[in-house]
Amino acid sequence: MTRLFDKRFLIVSGKGGTGKSTLCAALALAAAARGQRVVVAELNVRPRIPAMFGVDSGGYAPIPVHEGIEAIRITPEESMREYGVLKLRFKRIYRFVFENETMRGLTGMLPGLKELLLLGKLHAMEGETVRRGQRPRWDTLIVDGPATGHCVSMFRLPAVILEAVSAGPLADDARRIQQLLQDETRTAFNIAAVPEEMAVQEATELSAKVTNVLKIHKGLALLNMIWPPGLASGDEALLDHLRRSVARHDPVLAGLLSAISESERRHRHQEPMVQRMRERVGLPVIELPFLFARELNLAEITHLSQRLDEKIERCESATRPGAPGCGYEERELQ
Ligand SMILES: Nc1ncnc2c1ncn2[C@@H]1O[C@H](COP(=O)(O)OP(=O)(O)OP(=O)(O)O)[C@@H](O)[C@H]1O
Ligand SMILES: [Mg+2]
Repeated sequence: MTRLFDKRFLIVSGKGGTGKSTLCAALALAAAARGQRVVVAELNVRPRIPAMFGVDSGGYAPIPVHEGIEAIRITPEESMREYGVLKLRFKRIYRFVFENETMRGLTGMLPGLKELLLLGKLHAMEGETVRRGQRPRWDTLIVDGPATGHCVSMFRLPAVILEAVSAGPLADDARRIQQLLQDETRTAFNIAAVPEEMAVQEATELSAKVTNVLKIHKGLALLNMIWPPGLASGDEALLDHLRRSVARHDPVLAGLLSAISESERRHRHQEPMVQRMRERVGLPVIELPFLFARELNLAEITHLSQRLDEKIERCESATRPGAPGCGYEERELQ
């Protein structure tokens, strides 16, 4: 079994809003704390990750956001420009070929071209070296992937191209990208979810597709935003007693008691979903807490990354599936 942080190319996907970007930032901190040089890539979205580290810019050029961590936002247009300049060597020729109306419209028109450009850039980054090729520029690349369905189409693209063409530069590029994606020693596809019916369902379907359709090795399931266990047995009677006695005259206490009841209600609602995730997703489940903060900034992301790191460590050193902390009851780590 290759450990998660021994791999170089970590993809995170899952249902929208499950905390993918937040988890990518937390994974980046955990990898950097292990001494790795990390880059986190956001794909064709308004950059959000730099702000989590307190940095307010972010774009196509990687920017340092924390010790050992850089962030980049990749767009198809900028990838195309870079690719064009690289392949055509001269900016002037590039401008002549690419920067005219027809070509500009083309990126939006050819199905899959945008995604291919994003994949091409990610692949190029994985191969980047420094010190005259002596070491890779980054030890770990974390890809904040698109949500489930879009992510599957994007990572299936190299196979689609190879089914259509077997020779030529396009096929060569697709083959190289495919080799990276399907290399168990380098790549792991991680699945984010929250303990809600739709998110767990999507995670389960995505897990099957990653194995059967994409044929990419899976890493971990990251089950995010789990509410803390509320009351111990017997506490409920005490709460009820307080509610009917002192809290009737004390609005602050009454508010506190209803917050406790709400937290308890949410926790109870989530419990079967956590269980379902463990049983069905087919990979180790790392459970992460809901954090009570208006905005998640560096302090909260650091907290999340520490929980993540502890749980990954516990999970990976567990000698048998289902050992405490792993939440994994069905199959071996894949
Ligand atoms: N463990 C957590 N506790 C509380 N809030 C969280 C947690 N994780 C993420 N959030 C919050 O949930 C919201 C969604 O998180 P995030 O943007 O990371 O999700 P996403 O999956 O990347 O969303 P999208 O699909 O839009 O890209 C954000 O406001 C984030 O701060
Ligand atoms: Mg996001």
